[in-house]
Amino acid sequence: PEEMLFTYEGVVYPTTLCNPEQFKAMETFQARSDDVLLAGYCKSGTNWVGQIVTDLVITSAKKHEPHKLNEKLLLAEIPYLEIGDTEKYKRMHTYPSRRVMFTHLRPDKFPPSIFKNKAKVLMLIRNPKDVAASFFHFSNNFNPYPPYDTFEEFFRALMIGKMPWGSYIEYLCVWNKYYIDKENVLPITYEEIKENPALGAKKISTFLGLNLNEEDFQGVAERSSFKTMKENSKTTHGEFGDVLFRKGGISDWKTLFSEANNQEMDTIFKERLEGTKVGEMIKY
Ligand code: PPS
Repeated sequence: PEEMLFTYEGVVYPTTLCNPEQFKAMETFQARSDDVLLAGYCKSGTNWVGQIVTDLVITSAKKHEPHKLNEKLLLAEIPYLEIGDTEKYKRMHTYPSRRVMFTHLRPDKFPPSIFKNKAKVLMLIRNPKDVAASFFHFSNNFNPYPPYDTFEEFFRALMIGKMPWGSYIEYLCVWNKYYIDKENVLPITYEEIKENPALGAKKISTFLGLNLNEEDFQGVAERSSFKTMKENSKTTHGEFGDVLFRKGGISDWKTLFSEANNQEMDTIFKERLEGTKVGEMIKY
């Protein structure tokens, strides 16, 4: 239904999770150079990579600066920067480093201090076809998002960006424009972490300047496996966990896409991303 979504500065958002007052309050957020912002479009593996990042930061603090360790505060707020109440940013100013946050926002919609103060931004991308499959199932099981009778109906909405957090192709194009080249941005894919989670953890750790070893990366990889996260999901995510931890794999889109959907997505995504950094990163 229409009223479940609203448009703010050219992008569509879900009415029950976001609102203009919140977006305005978010502008006042003061980023720090040691903040970590995990940025991924919906369904690109935010909760998974969020577990990896949080675990890396905590493991490093335990090893090197236990006096600074504050596991609770990392989790005291809804981790998505754009979701919460308008007082959230005032509270966040009082929290000690390192703060770990997530966002589904496009980089041109981040609070300005993220790039100005050079917070560490992890740019997470996932094959758009798997994003589509995940998003379709999620939309039909998550109340704030509009449900769809058929995959076709969902696919049409996705292609024009009439979706929570807008269009994925636009999202990727905005990253491509110039944000991806910034020194405080690390682009990483769902697929590369899936292929070698310990190596993915190492890449993120190096970017964050943490001093950890192979054994640590193995531990982080094991604790963030789909199986482990799904098993722990009642504790970590409550009822929402059953919906969130669905399959956690690659190529499930093949169970939903028609040949026409496949060709349409190939044409549009490949055309618009051809010869760009994001285009080279996406594994179809
Ligand atoms: S959300 O609701 O937009 O924040 O969703 P998000 O967390 O970005 O993405 C959800 C998808 O990530 C999968 N997932 C995982 N994949 C691999 N390993 C682990 N540990 C893991 N945890 C979550 C999750 O299952 C969703 O993908 P699908 O394809 O639907 O299974």
